[in-house]
Amino acid sequence: MIDLRSDTITQPNEAMLDAMYEARLGDDSRDGDPTVRKLEALAADRTGKDAAMFVPSGTMGNLVALMAHTGRGGEVLLEEGAHILKHEMGGIAQVAGLFHRTIRGRRGAMDLGMLGEAINAALKPNKLATALIEMETTHNNAGGTVLTLDHMAAVHALGREHGIPVHTDGARLFNAAVALGVPAERIARHTDSVTFCVSKGLSAPVGSLLCGTAEFIGRARAFRRMLGGNLRQAGMLAAAGIVALQTMVDRLAEDHRTARQLAEGLFKLSPGLIDPKTVETNIVRVDTSGSGWSAEDWSKALAAYGVRVAPGGPAQLRFVTHRHISSADIETTLAAFRELWRKAPGQPASRAG
Ligand SMILES: Cc1ncc(COP(=O)(O)O)c(C=O)c1O
Repeated sequence: MIDLRSDTITQPNEAMLDAMYEARLGDDSRDGDPTVRKLEALAADRTGKDAAMFVPSGTMGNLVALMAHTGRGGEVLLEEGAHILKHEMGGIAQVAGLFHRTIRGRRGAMDLGMLGEAINAALKPNKLATALIEMETTHNNAGGTVLTLDHMAAVHALGREHGIPVHTDGARLFNAAVALGVPAERIARHTDSVTFCVSKGLSAPVGSLLCGTAEFIGRARAFRRMLGGNLRQAGMLAAAGIVALQTMVDRLAEDHRTARQLAEGLFKLSPGLIDPKTVETNIVRVDTSGSGWSAEDWSKALAAYGVRVAPGGPAQLRFVTHRHISSADIETTLAAFRELWRKAPGQPASRAG
């Protein structure tokens, strides 16, 4: 199967498996695990932050960040399609005890005017105080889009002006860095804390890092424990994360190329499917509304051709490229898509019978 459902399906490579086998281990919840500490130091270094903390998932990294920044109270301002809202099971309210207000976005970037207007620096008799501002880069629901450094700097400045912390969900932070052609630190300097995952395009099997000031990470460690995220000999997982950070970042450019190749092929077939110019990283969101088939229909039909794709909405397919997807796989995918396109009920040929 050509599996384009997500970059989370990537398998650890030989070097990761060797590192996991040889990792020095300890009790991370007690005296510390030396390999986890090494990964945390590397993550802090790459993001230019004082400290970092290993967590089992991006979802937990974000949740712990929400709790550690806010102390459970107030309102979080974030873009309307934020992963935290759409796919993290309401943890922001149900666990972190926070209210949220969405800000209209364009390609994942919040409208700065609206953000400024929504900020409420102090609790009022009829208004919650803003406790946190959240950004996401790359932005999953917007199609893997990358926030510009200027946008991030402007959001961070707004936060500073009002004494409000800023957290960034950078699950695919290194895709953003590669797309911008800058080290991850250049992005992370425009946020007080950032979560990134080694388990996605970087190909490690498990894990994410939350990075920020030493004081913030100290508080975050308590919340991680509260959520059951304290692991023991986690160095086995962290060892793969170290290899991921050391060897897998630059190759993300290949995933961006295959995503572009896919988008260009689909655009040639029908411009309504996707505008290749909107593809900035490894996510390609394709509009199937003109085909007469739902995204679910497409997903089933493509599976019969050996191509797995997840629906990203009723009329949207989400393709994600990664280390196991070659340029030849993209050609195979395009050939399958073309053949199905001719059969789809929305096409003139099939309407004519
Ligand atoms: C933008 C974004 N944030 C957070 C997450 C959550 O990561 P995890 O699946 O490790 O919980 C994802 C997962 O796809 C994501 O795309």
